Amino acid sequence: MAKVLVVGGGGREHAIVHAISKSPKVEKIYAAPGNAGIANLAECLNIKDTETDKIVDFAKENAIDLVVVGPEASLALGIIDKLRAAGINAFGPTKAAAQIEASKNFAKDLMAKYNVPTAEYKVFNKYDEAIAYVKETGAPTVIKYDGLAAGKGVVVAMTIEEADEALKDMLLDDKFGHGKVVIEEYLEGPEFSFMCFVNGTNVYPLEMAQDHKRAYDGDKGPNTGGMGAYSPLPFITNEDYEYAMNKIMIPVAEAMVKEGCPFTGVLYGGLMKTKRGIKVIEFNARFGDPETEVVLPRLTSDIYDAFMAIVKGEAPVLTWNKEFTIGIVLASKGYPGDYKKGYEILGADQPHIYHMGTKRENGKVYTNGGRVLFAVASGATLEEANKKANALVDTIKCDNLFHRTDIGAKAYRK
Ligand code: AMP
Ligand code: GLY
Repeated sequence: MAKVLVVGGGGREHAIVHAISKSPKVEKIYAAPGNAGIANLAECLNIKDTETDKIVDFAKENAIDLVVVGPEASLALGIIDKLRAAGINAFGPTKAAAQIEASKNFAKDLMAKYNVPTAEYKVFNKYDEAIAYVKETGAPTVIKYDGLAAGKGVVVAMTIEEADEALKDMLLDDKFGHGKVVIEEYLEGPEFSFMCFVNGTNVYPLEMAQDHKRAYDGDKGPNTGGMGAYSPLPFITNEDYEYAMNKIMIPVAEAMVKEGCPFTGVLYGGLMKTKRGIKVIEFNARFGDPETEVVLPRLTSDIYDAFMAIVKGEAPVLTWNKEFTIGIVLASKGYPGDYKKGYEILGADQPHIYHMGTKRENGKVYTNGGRVLFAVASGATLEEANKKANALVDTIKCDNLFHRTDIGAKAYRK
């Protein structure tokens, strides 16, 4: 019987822990640090996801059979390299491979070199040259800070003035640190998330999902970390799938091997279906959040076996149910801007509720983050799943939460 350690403490890790808990081969799950919901399924450790040396020591001392890493910050710190050096099975990419997410510049150069379809771009480190380029190419345009910026390093500028402001923040005021920016051609079309398990040149697709990034119904309001997601995607044809696999995911996995940084773990393609074909918006080196919370509940095969297969370079078995699954984020009022924490929540401990930002004190659950809970429901149609997910949300009582009601609705409301 196996012991597994999951690194991270959000909704994504709650869904990973939940999926692992279904494996008859796993006797014990630990989480570092986990959260109040994960604590119902795993033993939560007093170790932060960035305390990589402590995580390695714990895994060694407790003969952990497999470590699964959720957050990009842990990956960018080289946690997988350290675990592997200690002889521990670790699911995730090395620090070198995680660059595909951590550096926009690396990802764009890789795509250019290997002819992977993506927006046209140029890299700048001087404000004067960057603004001159924007004035020459015009708006809308997209400005991306070249580094991890907690999802805030991308500005879709509809005017030259907005672009100018972003360039000043990033190149003159060093808002995210001293660095470069990538300036990109603006693309239009529905976005979708294609996560694949990858080991070297072998690519095994998970079911696709769509995130909803805007805060309010009708895709209004500011961009967030994601307010809900659904899977599978009716607007993706077989042809789209073949294209995404054969022109994007497989060539990129092969390119990483050729570049000397083979990828192991989840390669996440943030893709857009534009009028001129499917193009890459970004890559992530990890499970998406909240996509994972709607994809993993659909997995009908053993995820522990699948993780171990990838770690050992074997082919995983991945089978899925045919149901539509929708998840709705319950966020603190004010998110993604300023918000207050510490409001009591009733109904947070239910099987289909993943915890994103909560804490437990004296048996009660309180809000403790921007995104707080994630309510998941399935149905034979998207519409049914949406109704059930909204009904589940209504069973949760808290004075300081808001949510979207229209997750997935664009796909069935004409
Ligand atoms: P990223 O962090 O690269 O995923 O960017 C965040 C969001 O900005 C994406 O989900 C898109 O909605 C938007 N975005 C990024 N790049 C582009 C682009 N080239 N054209 C239009 N929108 C973009
Ligand atoms: N849902 C977007 C992400 O995980 O980056």
